[in-house]
Amino acid sequence: MSGHEFQSFFPDSGEVDMTDTSTNIDQTTLAELRQIAARYPQPRSALLPMLHLVQSVDGRVSPAGIEACADILGITTAQVSGVATFYTMYRRRPGGKHHIGVCTTALCAVMGGDALLERVEHKLGIKTDETTADGTFSLERIECNAACDFAPVMMVNWEFMDNMTPEKADQLLDDLAAGKDVSASRGATITSWREAERVLAGFPDGRADEGPSAGEASLLGKGIADRQGWAAPNPEETAL
Ligand code: FES
Repeated sequence: MSGHEFQSFFPDSGEVDMTDTSTNIDQTTLAELRQIAARYPQPRSALLPMLHLVQSVDGRVSPAGIEACADILGITTAQVSGVATFYTMYRRRPGGKHHIGVCTTALCAVMGGDALLERVEHKLGIKTDETTADGTFSLERIECNAACDFAPVMMVNWEFMDNMTPEKADQLLDDLAAGKDVSASRGATITSWREAERVLAGFPDGRADEGPSAGEASLLGKGIADRQGWAAPNPEETAL
């Protein structure tokens, strides 16, 4: 790709792989899927977290998972597939134990996101949307993660790694590969992509309060306002 050419990326695009019928979904999983559906006044509203649970047990949106969701929610498998293939957080094929995202959208790009992605690709020996042969890492080029004040950012299993550099990325990947404890910049310690998917399905692992939830860059404006004695206008006084 030339430096002046625009390309859009739709990672892992395409259909769910219906030829891979393997599944780990068992009676416990089905009970948990029903439990999620029961949380909503309209059961079909539960589809997104249900798909995260499917991913946590099967490592992807599996044909068996699609059928289970459709059956429980009383909708068609085509409707489930339509949702699963619309959102990029749903995988059509298995990934690695750790799913690495590198943001290359505008603000991260100007702060070195493309160089970061190149370094990670070189370090892991894979391209975006691929998985390492040992199954430890999968890689994805991601769009803006609303963390531009910490650009360039990487994600590990959807946890933020702020203000990254190629050198910090090397160390991060070495530590994860060695099974060392790794903490997100603003979030919990890293477990695995599948465990993170279970949390996204609505089954907390008790670690939501680990680590800081807001970083210094995000709080800079508030700090200035506090020191200056500035406060938001009272809406009742400013009402027309
Ligand atoms: S551009 Fe990367 S987080 Fe916004």
